[in-house]
Amino acid sequence: MAKKLFDLTNKIAIVTGARRGIGRGIALMLAQAGAKVVVSDLNLEECQKVVDEIKKIGSDGLAVKCDVTNQKEVNEMIRKTIEKFGRVDILVNNAGIAPFKPFLEITEDEWNKVLDVNLKGYYLCAQAAAKEMIKNGWGRIINIASIAMGQVGFGFPNLTHYCASKGGIVAFTEALALELAPKGINVNAISPGVIATEMAKPVLEDEKTFKTILARVPKGRVGQPEDIAAAVVFLASEEADYITGATLVVDGGWLAG
Ligand SMILES: NC(=O)c1ccc[n+]([C@@H]2O[C@H](COP(=O)([O-])OP(=O)(O)OC[C@H]3O[C@@H](n4cnc5c(N)ncnc54)[C@H](O)[C@@H]3O)[C@@H](O)[C@H]2O)c1
Repeated sequence: MAKKLFDLTNKIAIVTGARRGIGRGIALMLAQAGAKVVVSDLNLEECQKVVDEIKKIGSDGLAVKCDVTNQKEVNEMIRKTIEKFGRVDILVNNAGIAPFKPFLEITEDEWNKVLDVNLKGYYLCAQAAAKEMIKNGWGRIINIASIAMGQVGFGFPNLTHYCASKGGIVAFTEALALELAPKGINVNAISPGVIATEMAKPVLEDEKTFKTILARVPKGRVGQPEDIAAAVVFLASEEADYITGATLVVDGGWLAG
């Protein structure tokens, strides 16, 4: 029989920020591809609901409360994953925040909070997960960045802290890919365009901004969590073995315009 492509049967995946939005979409599609998925976020009950959906799909999951800025909680998430499933194969760093605010009004605490969640959190989770992946000589770390990563010919005002963090994620991804390639771990980033989630509500609910965005997107629609999830499944698969240090833009053609 022909080999099933992009098959993740029995792979163990962790998705941060997975109670809703893009993270939830990623968790569900990884499960559809056969992975067992640790659904982690700030709210345990909402993570459990996603795990219930995963079980309906026919896979297995585990809900874990984890604030990605807290090293103790991150280590505990990895410990619980090992306890239940024995391994970590795939980490999707997805948890993020994007509080719109003019640069001149951003306080030091607000700046630190965005960089802590969006950048330090990625480091803490990647380091803890990589230590486990190395034991098996195989792993995939997938970092959700954004087209707000800089150097793309398009800027995002009122999100300076967010943009700084997302640019950092791309540089982090490239450097980490170099260090982990010899250990069998691939590290890639995905940069979504505008995706219909709670985070994007401020831009999607403003009619003028919504129309301006749609006019920029050749595909003529905003993205859905599944658009990003499909890219994650691909990068997590055996078939993506030769891809590391890359940033895959999933934006309906926005940046090509
Ligand atoms: N929606 C978009 O248009 C868009 C575009 C580009 C990139 N992204 C990125 O995609 C990722 C997911 O965003 P989304 O659109 O699904 O937003 P969302 O707000 O729906 O989901 C983000 C999740 O992260 C969780 N989270 C926040 N702080 C956390 C912390 N300290 N520890 C653990 N979890 C935490 C939230 O509870 C939430 O469930 C983010 O990294 C975001 O920057 C989103």
